[in-house]
Amino acid sequence: MSVRIAISVLALGLLPLASSNLAQAEDSAEKAKAVKEEGGKYFDADGNPTFKIENGNVDWYTFSGYRRYHSDCHVCHGQDGTGSSYAPALANSLKNIDYPTFLSIVAQGRKNVGSGKENVMPAFGDNKNVYCYLDDLYVYLRARADGAAPRGRPPKHEDKAQAAKDAEASCMGG
Ligand code: HEC
Repeated sequence: MSVRIAISVLALGLLPLASSNLAQAEDSAEKAKAVKEEGGKYFDADGNPTFKIENGNVDWYTFSGYRRYHSDCHVCHGQDGTGSSYAPALANSLKNIDYPTFLSIVAQGRKNVGSGKENVMPAFGDNKNVYCYLDDLYVYLRARADGAAPRGRPPKHEDKAQAAKDAEASCMGG
C-alpha cells in the first residue's frame, strides 16, 4: 500500500470520529450554558446548577467548589479532578454523570467490586463539609469537565451572595 493511500485511509477513519467529538463538545457546552441566576447560583435550561465563567472570572460556586474539592476529594481523585491510580478523573467522569447521579454517588458512596481491586468511594451523606457544598462541587467539576475551568486556583471570582451565605449557615447549623 502506498503511503498516500495509507494516509487517506487513516483520514477517512479518523475524521468522522473527530467531528462527532466536536459535536459532542458543542452539545455539552450548550447544555451547560447558564440561562438563569438566583442568588449568585447559575442554572442551565434544565434547571441544573451550572457555572458561569467569563474572562477567567468564575462564579462563586465554581470557586467554592474548587476549594471544597481540594479539601475533601483530591486525595483520591487527584489535583484539579485529573484522577489517580486509586480513583477516576472526575474532570472526565462529569462528562457522563448528570446532577442527580452525582448527588447520589457522593451521598451514598460506591464500591468497585468484581474487578479484582476494591477501591472505595466513601459515603459523604453524613459529612456537612461535603453535603452542604454538593452544588459547589458539582458546578466546579462540571466546569472542569466542560473545559471551561482551567487547572489551578481560579484567579478571579464573583463575590459570595447573601443567599449563599444564608444557605451555608442553615445547612451547617441545622
Ligand atoms: C478515599 C478515596 C476517595 C475520596 C476521598 C473521594 N472519592 Fe470519589 N471515588 C473514589 C473511588 C475509588 C471511586 C470509584 C468507585 C467505583 O469504581 O465504583 C470514586 C468514584 C466517584 C464518582 C463516580 C465517578 C465515575 O467515573 O463513575 C464520583 C462522582 C465521585 N467519586 C465524587 C467524589 C467527590 C465529589 C469527592 C469529594 C467530596 C470524592 N469523590 C471523594 C474514591 C474517593
